[in-house]
Amino acid sequence: MAADDLDALVDLDSDPEVTRYINGGQATPREVYVEHILPRILAHADAARGRGYFAIVDDDAAAGERFLGWAHLRPDHLEPTWLELGYRLHRRVWGRGVATWAGATLVRRGLADASVPVISARTDVDNRASRRVMEKLGMRLAGEFEFPAATIGTLAIPAAQAVLYVLKRGAGG
Ligand SMILES: CC(C)(COP(=O)(O)OP(=O)(O)OC[C@H]1O[C@@H](n2cnc3c(N)ncnc32)[C@H](O)[C@@H]1OP(=O)(O)O)[C@@H](O)C(=O)NCCC(=O)NCCS
Repeated sequence: MAADDLDALVDLDSDPEVTRYINGGQATPREVYVEHILPRILAHADAARGRGYFAIVDDDAAAGERFLGWAHLRPDHLEPTWLELGYRLHRRVWGRGVATWAGATLVRRGLADASVPVISARTDVDNRASRRVMEKLGMRLAGEFEFPAATIGTLAIPAAQAVLYVLKRGAGG
């Protein structure tokens, strides 16, 4: 993802179904993206090691529908030697295996670095689709915890019960 993807990011997060398990279904104000979220996304870009946030694009789709969403592979914010996987897609392409395909690509890429012991992923305990993707990638449930309430600019994100999945090097996948 690059700075000129701002409109695509704001549009993706304007669907309350997309953000249901991210922030309780709120649209993210454009200025929150500009001031907080986009700089974080860009700071994770590490093309040399194949890490960061990646746009998932369908070149055969109609104009205006080519951006399907994104997937990320970034340092885990709690366990810095791990890499954390994430994904977010437009509702129109859910259920076609896109997240599983993108996730498998990034898991393979992450484990290609022999110094990475674990690929992690976290989601709301009730986010069945996201959990299913983690399971299809060979990840295993490692625990339940609470995402504390947070504020990003003017966006207030409520606390949520969440799950941690991990794929350990050498444990399949
Ligand atoms: C989570 C998300 C990325 C999944 O993307 P996707 O491309 O639809 O995922 P896939 O098609 O690869 O796999 C989805 C799986 O979940 C299953 N699933 C979907 N909804 C489900 C539900 N409510 N209960 C149980 N399983 C469900 C699908 O049947 C499929 O499993 P299957 O292949 O065994 O049938 C997508 O739903 C999304 O963008 N959600 C909003 C953003 C989000 O919540 N991101 C994750 C935050 S951590």
